[in-house]
Amino acid sequence: MRRDTRTTVVAGNWKMNMTPSQTTLLINEMKTALPENPACKVVLCVPFVDIAAAVEAVKGSVIEIGAENVHFESKGAYTGEISASMLVECGVKYVIVGHSERRQYFAETDETVNLRAKAALEAGLTAIICVGETLTEREQGVTAETVARQTKIALMGVSEEMLKNVIIAYEPVWAIGTGRTATAEQANEVCGIIRDVVKALYGEKAAEAITVQYGGSMNAKNAKELLSKTNVDGGLIGGASLKAPDFAEIVKASDQ
Ligand code: PGA
Repeated sequence: MRRDTRTTVVAGNWKMNMTPSQTTLLINEMKTALPENPACKVVLCVPFVDIAAAVEAVKGSVIEIGAENVHFESKGAYTGEISASMLVECGVKYVIVGHSERRQYFAETDETVNLRAKAALEAGLTAIICVGETLTEREQGVTAETVARQTKIALMGVSEEMLKNVIIAYEPVWAIGTGRTATAEQANEVCGIIRDVVKALYGEKAAEAITVQYGGSMNAKNAKELLSKTNVDGGLIGGASLKAPDFAEIVKASDQ
């Protein structure tokens, strides 16, 4: 991590877990477990129906709330979808865009990721844009090309000013929920490739300022090593964000 030019952000991604009452309980546990003045920003991205309970529960704590998806239209006949302004009014500050599970199971494409990111940014949300290669792509040796393409398309039409509210999460698909983590070197290398793409598009200063997280089986044990790398500015945490002590350990590991 480089804290002189960048903000470190540790964000949980609860996926389709936790009911509203469970949300209140888990956040209360987290409030006790987390350090009082963490070295990073702490975010929990929760299911839509848990947002109200989460926003209430985090009051008076360092935790900020995010959503797990957002629709790109501002309103209209899109049954089942949620707009950026709805999220803002509920007290949401962050939103995950283009998670690989949405790309894999819900036909999300680079183009819709771009539309969602722009809708989120225009509404004043911070967009956590996920990119990452599949195992096949890694084995084919096209990791760099894959994340570069995903990053470039996701940022189409995003101004330099809007980029200040963008976080990119490098999440190798083969490491998500598999217990198989990228090595700290692999994570650092690909986060660096993403930073180079940002540099080519927006210049050196923007590239040095953007937060690039690693995600994929980050846990209480491996967080310290992953977060020690200069290009890794935090984490997007799935499974381990459902356990207060583990999530707190990861937050503490950002203090280096
Ligand atoms: P995981 O999920 O930590 O459970 O691998 C990470 C993610 O999907 O963001």
